[in-house]
Parts: sequence; C-alpha cells; structure tokens
Amino acid sequence: MPFEIVRNDITRMRVDAIVNAANSTLLGGGGVDGAIHRAAGRELLEECRTLGGCETGQAKVTKGYRLPCRYVIHTVGPVWEGGTKNEKALLASCYTVSLHLAAEYGCESVAFPLISSGVYGYPKEEALKVATDAIRDFLLSHDMNVFLVIFDKASFAISQRLYAHIRAFIDDAYAGPFYEEAESRRRYLGNTLFPAARAPWESESLPLAPEETEEAPIEAAWDGDWGEKASAGPSLEDYLKRMDEGFREMLLRKIDEQGMTDAECYKLANVDRKLFNKIKNQPEYRPGKSTVLAFAVALRLPLAETEEMLKKAGFSLSHSSKFDLIVEFFIRQGNYDIFEINEALFAFDQKLLGSVM
Ligand code: APR
Repeated sequence: MPFEIVRNDITRMRVDAIVNAANSTLLGGGGVDGAIHRAAGRELLEECRTLGGCETGQAKVTKGYRLPCRYVIHTVGPVWEGGTKNEKALLASCYTVSLHLAAEYGCESVAFPLISSGVYGYPKEEALKVATDAIRDFLLSHDMNVFLVIFDKASFAISQRLYAHIRAFIDDAYAGPFYEEAESRRRYLGNTLFPAARAPWESESLPLAPEETEEAPIEAAWDGDWGEKASAGPSLEDYLKRMDEGFREMLLRKIDEQGMTDAECYKLANVDRKLFNKIKNQPEYRPGKSTVLAFAVALRLPLAETEEMLKKAGFSLSHSSKFDLIVEFFIRQGNYDIFEINEALFAFDQKLLGSVM
C-alpha cells in the first residue's frame, strides 16, 4: 500500500532509499543515525564527509553501501524547543524534501524513521501527525510506496484519548457468539440493534413484518402496496439492479455518484494504481476484505452501505474481529481519515487498510 506503518529496524528495510535522522554535521551520532552508519560501513561516513553538512529541514543523498537499499537520504530534524521555533514546518520539510529527493533519484520505495522523536525530543504524537500529513500530501500527486518504520512500540503513540475510546468500543461491542447470531439476523432482516445504521433502501416508512424469518425475501418488508411505497426508496428496477451489482460495479457507481476521479478514490483508499486498475478491468478479480473496507472508507460510506459493499465482495463486518471493530468505530464516528485509522490499527497490532498489487 502506498503508505504503510511497520515495526522494524530501518537498517533492514529492503527499499530503494532509507531516510536517516541525522544531525547537521552528517558525521554520524546515536539513535537511528548510529544504527545506519554501523550497518552501512565506513564508506558511508567517508561520503558524508564530502557533503559539507546539512541544514535543519533539508536533506542530502548518499549511496547505501552495505545496507539493503540503494540510497540513504540524510535529513536533519528540528530539536524540539516547545513548538515556538518553527519546529513543525521544519519537521514537515524533512519529509517533503526527502520524498522529492527520492523521486528525483527514481526511488519507488522509501522508508522513514519517526524523525526528531528521539534525542531531539519532538513529542511523539505530534511527530507522527506531522509525518503522516506530509507523506499524505506527497502521495496525492506521486506514486511511491512509503514506509514509516517504528523501531519500538514506545516510540509510537496515538492520542491516549483516542486509544481509550477505541478500547472501550471494542470491549463493549464484542459480545461473542450471541452477538454473531443476533447480528446475522439484523443484517438480513433490517435493523433493531443499531437503528442508526439502516441500509439506504430501508426507509423509515417500511416497518419490518415481525413474523419475518431469515429466509423471508426482502419483498416481505414491503407490505404489498408497491405503488405508494415505491416513492419511499429506490424503484423496484433500481433496487433489483443493485441486488445484482457486484463489488466492482458498486465501487464504480459510488465513485461516479460522488463525482470523484478514480485516482482520488484509490489514493484516499491507500490502494495503489495497479491494483485499482486490476479491480476495474478484471471483473472476475476478487479483492481482499481490507481493500474493500479501504474503498468504503475512501467513499465515506455509512455503516450500512459499508456492509452492503462488503457483502457484494463476499465479506461482512464481524464483532469478533478487532480489525473490523476498529474500522467500524471510525465509521460510526464519521472519521474517514485512512491515515488515522491505520495509526489506530497499528497501535492495536492489526493489519492496515489499503493494499498494493
Ligand atoms: N530503526 C528505526 N527507527 C529507529 C532505529 C532503527 N534502527 N533506532 C532508533 N529509531 C527511532 C527512535 O525510536 C525514534 O523514534 O528513530 C526515531 C528518531 O530517534 P533518533 O535516532 O534519536 O533521532 P532524532 O530524534 O531525530 O535525533 C537526531 O540523534 O542520533 C542522533 O546524530 C543524531 O544528533 C542526531 C539526533
């Protein structure tokens, strides 16, 4: 996926370029700087000596030498001094300048540490936000796979408040087998558990017949008087057409309905262009659940339509899956920021939304 957060040692990343959180001398140091110099070998320091240092917020490139990458991009983050010395802009510049330099050198993949969040003391939550905002802005107009490499869990912090809310939602929402049975009835018969998440065609004027069983076809929800009720929701023809459409057709219909371009949609979904084109051009292709959910988020679908899209791809949201619960939490909150959702998924050790070919 174009943007991914991974837990690793950046010196082990097999990418075109890794970014070093250096100091202005570029002559090595501790933290990730020290790790990169140790892994790259002496030649790295010899080349750094020829660069004449680097200003804060800027970046310079060297070869990767013994590292499993072609280049090392050395950037100098700001020292945190309380936020009054333009630290945010300087830190954002580290990411933006490094990304443009990587593009200039033909890199298709780049790995960043969380710059300035160690020795330089930048508060970790803010450092993460600056990093993801700068990377997101770059990816809106560039195709590149960007990794944010988290060396240790302590150096990764989403807001404690958000973490606590998600934790509470997971604890409350998970109801085990009972929930699963009740949920599958809800999903088919219409909504009693979560009235807020009514499917778009379940307009208020259609009370469900109480004696309905799971096998009851959706027509039972209409009390037989099609003429008057038809104006309450989509026409029968539209409705039946939508029953037939698959995931791919629903995705393309929603992109059109929302006046989005294909690129806007797959970038907001953190899905790469190649995979989107495969979904679009190969009707038989079956995307994975996290890809379908990523598109539902990109299209800002309400929960019921998210479930409709999942169902068309052969999936459903499950309350026995932390991944599903966290995505459902954000949809219920109306927060469709896939970077924030992925930060939360990462914080809860879940896989992320989006995908690559
Ligand atoms: N891989 C990935 N990330 C790492 C690694 C590693 N091998 N080692 C450390 N980190 C993480 C830290 O956990 C921190 O989150 O990199 C982030 C940046 O921490 P620092 O390396 O301390 O860099 P920074 O805060 O930008 O301070 C730069 O430290 O090492 C000196 O010479 C460097 O003077 C410069 C200053």
